[in-house]
Amino acid sequence: MPFPAQRMRRLRAGATLRRMVRETQLAPDDFIYPLFVVHGQGVRREIGSMPGVFNLSVDEAVAEAQEVYGLGIPAVILFGLPQHKDPIGLENFAPEGIVQQAIRAIKKAVPELVVITDVCLCEYTDHGHCFVIREGRFDNDATLEILGKVVVSHAQAGADIVAPSGMVDGMIATIRSALDREGFSMTGVMSYAVKYASGFYGPFREAADSAPAFGDRHSYQMDPANAREALREARLDVEEGADVLMVKPGLPYLDVLRRVREAFDLPLAAYNVSGEYSMVKAAALNGWLDERRVVLETLTAFKRAGADLILTYHAKDAACWLREG
Ligand code: PBG
Repeated sequence: MPFPAQRMRRLRAGATLRRMVRETQLAPDDFIYPLFVVHGQGVRREIGSMPGVFNLSVDEAVAEAQEVYGLGIPAVILFGLPQHKDPIGLENFAPEGIVQQAIRAIKKAVPELVVITDVCLCEYTDHGHCFVIREGRFDNDATLEILGKVVVSHAQAGADIVAPSGMVDGMIATIRSALDREGFSMTGVMSYAVKYASGFYGPFREAADSAPAFGDRHSYQMDPANAREALREARLDVEEGADVLMVKPGLPYLDVLRRVREAFDLPLAAYNVSGEYSMVKAAALNGWLDERRVVLETLTAFKRAGADLILTYHAKDAACWLREG
């Protein structure tokens, strides 16, 4: 019985009614906030292409972590910028490495905040790739050995969850067994399972100083044209022991997010990446978009598409706006 018996506008007539029939809820609990940690003291250096996002020394990162937890956001993900870069990235698994220091300081100051660490070589290697290079080639299995060392050092420092982002074949199985072997069977693994070779990472590479010195990442990250392949990637990581899956980037890949959501029942994260952030920021700063509206609409779209968790540089602003109601 269509019109006039059915009128879709009835349930949209007032704010309270709309609240009652709202299908998707967004809350600070859904967010994971990225932090970029650097050596030094009192460093708070804004990233040119990411207004409102900073490179932070450990003391500043602790202050930020306190603020984040106070806003009701349950987790941060740490990225480290080392003092020196070298071919394999030695600081990546050094006990006094920048991320190891940050984990210890944050867990001490805000024990309840979940500390996740990004696990990759690209911020630490002088060539900026996510792999060890041997005889001019990406050496997958030599890279796995390093990733094993990195996750153990993060777990020893107190990380709750490690998040490998390098698209190295076998990385989840290697990491799970390295953690278990060293007694860290309770350390979780959030896999960047479905990660595309994307132009949207541009501003991040400034933030993390991780642009490849030559070539690109197309031989390890996924072709943006592929969706079925995403299900294979996710399936392998589930079999290898991942606790949480991720799809990255976010907005241009909501169809992939939905397909992964339907195929697997693990918690699913979406990464609202740097380029997505910078586009909204740039337009908002020009007065071309209403930032609050666009950000909350975007984050709601992630949840509607199937994300349980959203890694986003908008997390602090969004948590404040959600509180204001
Ligand atoms: C790799 C890594 C990247 C991002 C997160 N982890 C960059 C890349 O793959 O080049 C991108 C995040 C963003 O753009 O916000 N360690």
